[in-house]
This record gives sequence, C-alpha cells and structure tokens, in this order.
Amino acid sequence: MTLQLNDSSLFRQQAYIDGQWVDADSGETFPVYDPATGEVIANVPRLGAAETRRAIEAAERAQAGWAKLLAKDRARMLRDLADAMLANADDLAMIMTAEQGKPWPEAKAEVAYAASFFEWFGEEAKRVYGETIPAPMGERRLVVLRQPIGVTVGITPWNFPSAMPTRKAAPALAVGCTMVLKPAEQTPLSALAVAELAERVGIPAGVFSIVTGDAEDAPKIGGEMTSNPIVRKLSFTGSTQVGKLLMEQCAGTVKKVSLELGGNAPFLVFDDADLDDAIAAINVAKYRNAGQTCISANRVLVQSGIHDAFVERVVELSKTVNVAPGFDPSATIGPLIDDPALEKVARHVADAKTRGGEVLLGGDVHAEHGRTFFLPTVITGADMSWEMSNEETFGPVTAVHRFESEADAVRIANDTPFGLAAYLFTRDHARIWRVGEGLDYGMIAINTGFISAAEAPFGGVKESGIGREGSQHGIEDFLELKYMAWAGIRDE
Ligand code: SIN
Repeated sequence: MTLQLNDSSLFRQQAYIDGQWVDADSGETFPVYDPATGEVIANVPRLGAAETRRAIEAAERAQAGWAKLLAKDRARMLRDLADAMLANADDLAMIMTAEQGKPWPEAKAEVAYAASFFEWFGEEAKRVYGETIPAPMGERRLVVLRQPIGVTVGITPWNFPSAMPTRKAAPALAVGCTMVLKPAEQTPLSALAVAELAERVGIPAGVFSIVTGDAEDAPKIGGEMTSNPIVRKLSFTGSTQVGKLLMEQCAGTVKKVSLELGGNAPFLVFDDADLDDAIAAINVAKYRNAGQTCISANRVLVQSGIHDAFVERVVELSKTVNVAPGFDPSATIGPLIDDPALEKVARHVADAKTRGGEVLLGGDVHAEHGRTFFLPTVITGADMSWEMSNEETFGPVTAVHRFESEADAVRIANDTPFGLAAYLFTRDHARIWRVGEGLDYGMIAINTGFISAAEAPFGGVKESGIGREGSQHGIEDFLELKYMAWAGIRDE
C-alpha cells in the first residue's frame, strides 16, 4: 500500500540518532504491517545495543547545551513542534491509521492530543521554580534548585503511537533533559514522523533520538537503556510484566523510573446514575481505540436496580459501533493490533462462556472483514472468577457484573493488584466522595468516560505503576532537587 500523503517525507523508514537518519549496523530491517490488511507498509532498521549506546552518548553530548538554553527558547521550539504536528495532522493521522488500525478521525484526534503535550510542557518549562527555606542558623541561606535529571530514555506502546512518545519526550525536553526513545515494533512510523518534525523545527542533534527494533531486538535495546550509567531515568508505558523487569534492570545503576503499566478498570454504575451519561461514557471508555487502552473499562459493575436497563442500552449502543478498516469513513472501531491481541480477546470470551456468561451481542470476529476485526461484544453474568475480570482484555468486550450494595462495589473494584483508572456513575455527591476516596486507583472518572489531558496527572497505584505523566507532576519526574546551603552570611 502506498499512502497518499501531502508530505511524503514524513514517512520515515530509518532510525534517527544524533540528528542523522540511519540504518542498522547489520543493515537488517523488520516489517511494519497494516493490521487491517496484513500488508507490509514499511521496513524499519533492526537496531541493537551498539546503536542504542551511540544514541545515548549523543544524548549526553547534547544535554548540557540543551539545558543551558533559556527556558523560553526551548518553549518556543516545543511550541513550533506542536504547531508542526497540527499543520501536518492529516498526514500524521494517515500514518497512524496505516500502522495501528484506529479510524482516521480518531487518529487525527490523537495527533492533537499528542501535540498538546509539546504545547503544554513547553509553556510549563518557564515555571520550573526553585525554593528558599528559612534557615535554622542566622548566617545561612538554604536554597533548592530543580535541575534536569540528564539523559533519559523512553519505551512506548503501540496503542497510542504518537501520544505516548510525546507524553514522555515533551516534559523531558521542556526542562532540559535529552531523550532516546524506542517506539513499539508494531508502530514505529508515527514516532519517526514526530522526529522528522522535531528536526525541522530545530531541535538540536542528539536531543531527541529514536531507536527502532523488533521483538527480538527489544531486550538488547532495553538492556542497553537500563544498564548504561549515562542514562538517569527510564519512562516506560506497557505491560506490568515488562515494567517489573525494566525496574529490576534499572536497579543496577539506580535510575529513576516512571512506569505506566496495566490496568483493570472498574466502571461502577449505581442505581441513581444518569443512564445517558453512563452509556455515553461506555462508548468512550470501552470503544475508544477498540478497547485497546490501559484505562479501558474492563469490569463494568452495575447495581441491581439499574442493571437490566443499562444492559439493554449497552446492547443498543454496541449495535451502532461499526467495525471496519480505519480508512473506511463509516468505521467507528478498527481491527485489533495483531494475532496475539485477537487470541487474548477470544480466550477471554470463551472463558466467560464456559463460566456461564451470556453473550448478548458479538463474541466473534467480523464475518466479512475477518482477520483481527472483533465485533463489539456484550456479555452479562460476569464475576471475579472470569479471566477477563483479572487481566485487561484490550478489546471491544463489555462484561457486565451485577452488585447490590456500595460496599460490595468498592470491594469488587479493589479486588485486583492493579490501580490505574476507575469510573464512577452516581448523582449522589456524598457517594461520589465516599466511593472516590475508597477506590485504590490513581485516576477516578466521575460521570464521564474521558479523563486524558496534558494538564492532568496520568498514572496508577499498586502494580499499575509509579510516577505520573502530564501536569506539573509529570515535570517533576524529569527533575532532580539540589539543595544548596550557603554559610558565612554574617551581619556587618
Ligand atoms: C494508555 O492507554 O496508556 C493511554 C491512554 C490515554 O492517554 O488516554
């Protein structure tokens, strides 16, 4: 397939290291597929430890100069980069749909979301303030600086091929860090397109590099990133299993880590909920990106009194969800990313059936599109013994549990090692506070299905991760405190 881009030079098939577009030392490449068709759309270099080391060394050479720039000059460049992304949004969205499968309008919305990180963090770069502290001794002044941590690395997933790279790179670059980023092997092209635009707006060589590799290369690239003492921080979004491994590997050189890992989001609907709000929220929290987000509603817990009405409305809604290739204007969800993703969704549905779940809609791949196009699926009778209640399904499957009391809802919702996002639907303000405070989650959505924004702290508790991305808390993760004690300031 040849993509009809307005600017074909955004379609990069080389890695970007130290301001140069490069091949692998071995000359080897790996294919990038269109999940809608299975066609190869690009071939991208298979890098390993040596190329990653060179990228890290370039990041070290570039870091001091980048940090020395005035904050407002870094901010201007990041703003230019955000603007360049928006100006090229049609092309960036086309690249994203081709490699990830999400419908083109949704990809375009992701480009705007991705660009917003450069805009917001660029502005915030000017507000990295220090502190003065009243000293315990008269001749002293105590001062705290907040300085960039130095060279950082990022590893990003395939579900948001543009927004996850920018959510990591934007705060890093804003405060004067440099970053070497490895995008997922399924979706490297969106990150490479961002690097192309970064080069065009004048981000200096070495400040932002992209290393590419397939599943076999990932441990070599990740191994270099986590063991190289130059690297002072790792930011990872992906599975809890890989996050634990990276955290262990980072211990050897005591790197700062931020991890945005798996979720198992509960979606609580109480009897007094506004049904229209809850259904509109399911449309986003379940069907956005075909359910392939870490914050997708995974366990839909509905109170007995509203259960049947809710189920009827979810089925009605799900019938309007159209599964089709992402470039088809009628598509509301695209294919799942690949065969392992399909196998997991199919396994969860099969498990639900054997445990007495009633499939009211879907439950299979789309008859015409086949491949990984999974139908919007609604299943009732869920409980915590089901596989899909214990691991995230990452697919368009709504499994409805029934609960009786508020205490039950909170207990079931918290019955998981994960704690990323939770959703809560009720009109009772006291309940909002009680349940909101009782849920062991990093993010609580109240009467809405959408919580993502550059301005807000995104992240989880328990095995869903460490640290926050977005907001001023996301900036902190790329800063070190330096305490300076000045002595000898005596009265004349
Ligand atoms: C994720 O799935 O990790 C990110 C979702 C979002 O930013 O909305």
